[in-house]
Amino acid sequence: MSEKIRKGTVLSALMWASGEFRAAGIESFRLDAELLLSCVLGLSRVQLYINYDRPMNEDEKERFLSLVRRRQKREPVAYILNRREFMSLNFYVDRNVLIPRPETECMVEWIIGNGGIQGESRILDVGTGSGCIAVSLLRNTPANEIFASDIDEKALGVSERNFGLLCQDKRYMLIHSSLFENISAGEFDIIVSNPPYIKRNSLRSLMPEITEFEPRIALDGGENGDAIINRLIEGAYDNLRNGGLLIFEHGDDFVLNEELIKGRYDLLYRGKDYSGRDRFIVLRKNRQ
Ligand SMILES: C[S@@+](CC[C@H](N)C(=O)[O-])C[C@H]1O[C@@H](n2cnc3c(N)ncnc32)[C@H](O)[C@@H]1O
Repeated sequence: MSEKIRKGTVLSALMWASGEFRAAGIESFRLDAELLLSCVLGLSRVQLYINYDRPMNEDEKERFLSLVRRRQKREPVAYILNRREFMSLNFYVDRNVLIPRPETECMVEWIIGNGGIQGESRILDVGTGSGCIAVSLLRNTPANEIFASDIDEKALGVSERNFGLLCQDKRYMLIHSSLFENISAGEFDIIVSNPPYIKRNSLRSLMPEITEFEPRIALDGGENGDAIINRLIEGAYDNLRNGGLLIFEHGDDFVLNEELIKGRYDLLYRGKDYSGRDRFIVLRKNRQ
């Protein structure tokens, strides 16, 4: 064990871990050190500040050291702590699911404010992963029930855990399916998705936190990044009621294929993320 942490107080442990993270090229070095130490000591970050002189016992030092070693290898803090906040809810996450991103909150907030969701609305979340979108919609709208699908059974296991933790009073139906293959639940009012949309060639250039730890199936959007999105647009048509909404997140240079939507959908809205970049699209199925 490092000498600095062996002798350490809360403050010296934080300074040591911050230095290790900085040397490993981690930008959020201080924040990450605080989050990991907060977890080990069962204190909030504010409580850490008022306990700087508190000595750490051997068990605390050992546990902190092992978390620091994991983070040094660029494992994301969310996987180390098995927790990520999304829409002010605490989600369980592990390496079977994408870590929920703040930009996805922008899409969820739009749906909550503008999706017209009622108690009996029929909603499907395609590629639910941790379940962050579906759970947030159940928690923040009058919807009584939601359908959530994923191609990956392990991801569905994680979403089931989050539904169980966060949505005990509402109904949810989990479906193991590639896009709409096993979806036979009839027509939906809303289909929402944050599909994989990273261009295959760009995957390698992403941060190690993403490339080495997050599931490739949650990221890889094919050669142009739009392979799954285009199949989603095609397949959603037969699964939406007339006037129903398809809402999906997309990458930075996504170009909507006009041929795919012509005569079938109207482009209702282009949504931005917190950085002001185009990030999601709302299509309305044509009323016939
Ligand atoms: C970008 S992640 C989004 C996860 C979660 N909805 C979120 O917003 O954090 C994409 C998800 O789609 C799933 N997925 C990938 N290909 C799929 C397919 N063909 N059909 C259904 N789900 C798919 C992945 O397993 C992954 O859970």
